[in-house]
Amino acid sequence: MTEATHTRRVFSGVQPTGDLHLGNYLGAVKRFVEMQNDDWEAIYCIVDLHAITAGWAGREGMRSATRELTAAFLACGLDPDKSVLFNQSQVAAHSQLGWIFSCTARMGWMNRMTQFKDKAGKNAERASLGLYAYPALQAADILLYHATHVPVGEDQRQHIELARDIATKFNLDFGAEGFFPLPEPLIEGVATRVMSLRDGSKKMSKSDPSDQSRLNLTDDADAIAKKIRKAKTDPEPLSSDLEGLEGRPEALNLVNIYAALAEVSPDAVMAEHGGASFSTFKPMLADLAVARLAHIGDEMRRILAEPAEIDRILGKGADKAAAIADPILEKTHDIMGFVSSR
Ligand code: TYM
Repeated sequence: MTEATHTRRVFSGVQPTGDLHLGNYLGAVKRFVEMQNDDWEAIYCIVDLHAITAGWAGREGMRSATRELTAAFLACGLDPDKSVLFNQSQVAAHSQLGWIFSCTARMGWMNRMTQFKDKAGKNAERASLGLYAYPALQAADILLYHATHVPVGEDQRQHIELARDIATKFNLDFGAEGFFPLPEPLIEGVATRVMSLRDGSKKMSKSDPSDQSRLNLTDDADAIAKKIRKAKTDPEPLSSDLEGLEGRPEALNLVNIYAALAEVSPDAVMAEHGGASFSTFKPMLADLAVARLAHIGDEMRRILAEPAEIDRILGKGADKAAAIADPILEKTHDIMGFVSSR
């Protein structure tokens, strides 16, 4: 089997660990929706097994986070008839291939993962083994479907590169050339790294203690407008062109957010708004953000009123996912010489 035989298939995942924010939306979910077309087979996963690597939210907390993320996906436009949408723990093959990849990946590779260092912080000794092995499970998520393309934000680049290394080593070690494709990260557009609204040097993140640092998809119109009005900027007006924003990360971030929401280039934003003061630019950005985002929160609340319907969608998605994943896991076992009596 060669790589050319793999069909174009997209896989991506999001952790159910609290509200989705603008970075998740622009860097990932908005693009998931755009890729639901005939050119791709698309599989999107709520990675609940990954979510427990940094702690457990409690039984009800886990259930509501998974349902909320599903509602967010649906509210953003994911169509479960066009894409496969499911939660990871319902397809056992993820954990099974994850273990095999934990035996394929090398300690040296894992030691270089910057997200582990960021998340474990100074207390690496007390971090879970799962947090350390996290990227091996992520590689399993992708390769279990022979996915060829992975739309993600910039912070996931290293993990996708690791998935490529794991695929290469597996194919080589077990004499299975081309069995696992080498997945391509799709990190495109101006919003691959949306920054905090309070500090232009930090990425917008669920774990930032300040809620003012991010726009949540559950925020209503008032909250969105207020957070943008209060977003940190410098005293200068916008420069006339993009080059003039060098060294002004907060201003550049707002321009990039505007461009991504309006679906135009940052140059086009500067052509229209260059020279404007922030007291003029921010209300325009707020109006745009409210127009693009506020309905998502309303739609989420409507969908969440029917949790049984959400669970039904996830169950159906899990069946579709398992129908692709199980034969690939079986073939993997066969390649490795695991005896099967089925
Ligand atoms: P997670 O849940 O942290 O984030 C979900 C997606 O949102 C993107 N993202 C951002 N994009 C732009 N600007 C930001 N400030 C920003 N913050 C987050 C992330 O890059 C990601 O695309 N390890 C993954 C989940 C995962 C996965 C996978 C992804 C598990 N298995 C397989 C792809 C393929 C994560 O923690 O994403």
